[in-house]
Amino acid sequence: MPLTETPAVEARDLRRTFRTRQGALRPTRRTVEAVRGVSFEIAPGELFGLLGPNGAGKTTTIKMLITLLIPTSGSASVLGRDVVGDVREVRRRIGYVFGGDRGLYERLSGLDNLRYFSELYGVPPREQKERIGSLLELVGLTGREGERVEGYSRGMRQRLHIARGLLHDPDVFFLDEPSIGIDPVGARELRATIAGLREQGKTVLLTTHYMFEADELCDRIAVIRSGEIVAEGTPTQLKQLVSAGRVLEVETYGVSDDAVEVARGTGGVRSVVVEDRGQLQVLVVSCEPGAEVTQHVLAGLDGTRVGRVSHRDPTLEDAYVELVTR
Ligand SMILES: Nc1ncnc2c1ncn2[C@@H]1O[C@H](COP(=O)(O)OP(=O)(O)O)[C@@H](O)[C@H]1O
Ligand SMILES: [Mg+2]
Repeated sequence: MPLTETPAVEARDLRRTFRTRQGALRPTRRTVEAVRGVSFEIAPGELFGLLGPNGAGKTTTIKMLITLLIPTSGSASVLGRDVVGDVREVRRRIGYVFGGDRGLYERLSGLDNLRYFSELYGVPPREQKERIGSLLELVGLTGREGERVEGYSRGMRQRLHIARGLLHDPDVFFLDEPSIGIDPVGARELRATIAGLREQGKTVLLTTHYMFEADELCDRIAVIRSGEIVAEGTPTQLKQLVSAGRVLEVETYGVSDDAVEVARGTGGVRSVVVEDRGQLQVLVVSCEPGAEVTQHVLAGLDGTRVGRVSHRDPTLEDAYVELVTR
């Protein structure tokens, strides 16, 4: 996609390694390559998703972009300002919220929290009231702002955090796994808030490991695995990566590692995962178009109690699983 205007966020071959020491008596040094050459661009107004499993390097990438970590090599800029050389300018234009974020005053009301942080962030007093009012509206807390935060649900707290992060009216907003630990209803309200950010014209970088969340919200998604981007595109494009195939699902009552290996080794199989659904363990086998794998996979399950066997079209979740496991 050719971009004519300055990208809101640009990462060029970003790398970050950590040196760690383990063991007290004879410490061994280990180098962790958390981010290994990540490049992407986010256009102004875009909602961009960084999607990947735990430990993939999402938080490390965000921390470099928001000037909290210095890259080991590579470079990045926000609205044309370098994240290492222009820290002040970058910080003025960004806001961020981390999942499971702390730092709200429990004994104060939501409104008083926002008043307090307005002072801290230097929001001009004349603008405070209106700014806070419109932010409460944006995050769906109008009418609840007088209540103490200690009585808020996790979802409400997270939305208050988002309002707090927007007080200085940043152009670019970073959300690191915002829905972590939030119940389904709360997560849905949170998604509505995130969609609202986009409607306000903010550029948003969202990290998540929930596929459906990325699918619903993002204009574009980069899938990151072990510190590297393994795929990038619109949700539709990512789905097309696997859309030509089929998915075989076999319900079992306790599948062995051997059976999983047989399935993985079957010709035409692209990926295999085992999903726990209550008492059932479901073998989810993603296949090439036209591949006949059912007989072979079932033969490998000889001796295992098998329930329903079914076929379905692949989802974005399957695309994701395939990308992060192959
Ligand atoms: N401060 C640190 N010191 C050592 N290793 C770290 C540090 N921060 C992150 N890591 C390691 O870097 C990798 C990527 O971590 P992170 O960016 O937090 O991933 P994600 O946010 O995708 O779960 C992991 O292997 C993690 O253990
Ligand atoms: Mg993280």
